[in-house]
Amino acid sequence: MRYTRASVPEDQRYLASTAVIMSELIKTLVCMIVLYMMPAAHQRSLSRLATLLQREVVVNWRESSKLALPAFLYLIQNNLQYVAATNLDAATFQVTYQLKILTTAFFSVVILKRSLNRLKWCSLALLTFGIGLVVLPKDASLAAIAYFTGETEPEIVSDVPSTSVGNQSNMEGFMAVLMACVLSGLAGVYFEKILKAPVKQPNAGDEESKAMMKDEDNDSLRSPQGHSPQEDTTAAQSQLWIRNIQMSFFSVLLGLIFVVLMQDGATIAEKGFFVNYTCLTWVVILIQAFGGLIVALVVKYADNILKGFATSISIILSSLVSVWLFNFVLSGSFVLGAIFVIYATYLYGL
Ligand code: C5P
Repeated sequence: MRYTRASVPEDQRYLASTAVIMSELIKTLVCMIVLYMMPAAHQRSLSRLATLLQREVVVNWRESSKLALPAFLYLIQNNLQYVAATNLDAATFQVTYQLKILTTAFFSVVILKRSLNRLKWCSLALLTFGIGLVVLPKDASLAAIAYFTGETEPEIVSDVPSTSVGNQSNMEGFMAVLMACVLSGLAGVYFEKILKAPVKQPNAGDEESKAMMKDEDNDSLRSPQGHSPQEDTTAAQSQLWIRNIQMSFFSVLLGLIFVVLMQDGATIAEKGFFVNYTCLTWVVILIQAFGGLIVALVVKYADNILKGFATSISIILSSLVSVWLFNFVLSGSFVLGAIFVIYATYLYGL
């Protein structure tokens, strides 16, 4: 994302607002494909899918309107990420963005009434600190050591990449990333609350939903409500994809109104929606779309706090792969940070 934004002059940059909308549309498409494939092969049909979507998004508008808030929060968060990635160097952005681990824990306690004992809070603080060290670039950590020991090492300090790319405004970038942390925690936890609410079963006459869940071999195992265990599981599974479609619906709607039209309307009218798109822009859009779907799966089957641990460990693993693939050199701060992250994970599991 940073490469596609900061390495080109401002007048040749693609519009972040349209990229966010395209990610949402791709997510919706993937969710629709999954929902389409969910019933047995002989029961799949586009009209069945269309009826299901119409019911879930339009008829069932009370349920789907609950997704407007997280959609709105994520929309701002996604746009702020582009602001931050444009104005801060990638490492500073990554380090400060880890504060979202703590904002997520805070909102999990306040909104989901989850109780975290002192050990868990300590492990979360250690995780944040550890992952901050892990993503700190080697040059920056050496510069920090030189600063605190009073040594001036011009070679090292001048190497810090933050000064090397144009298009930057550190203050704006910092404010954006801090806001993004708060929104990440709030939106994630609110989405989790909706996703984990008990699944509403379809009404007797609701043929499409029943077809999505039908399993005639399971009659002997039906629950008191008349649903087989497989029906209950499939209903829960399809909810995840329906929720994502509902949320994307609002993201696209709000994004088109507030960001695309109000912010970039004039540019789009003059140069087009896909102005300055390149292959790499599409790669960023796909990563955002699939990343978003993976986040939804993690939130559904684990929780937002565990997502923080998962992403931290993934950063370490991908750095280790970079040693082999790109000759990435591990710094002392990386190894120390990795030890903190692993220890924090162990502590959290106690
Ligand atoms: O940085 P953080 O982990 O909060 O980012 C979560 C990302 O996942 C956001 O970009 C958000 O748009 C995306 N997301 C999604 N669909 C969901 C939940 C989150 O695309 N259902």
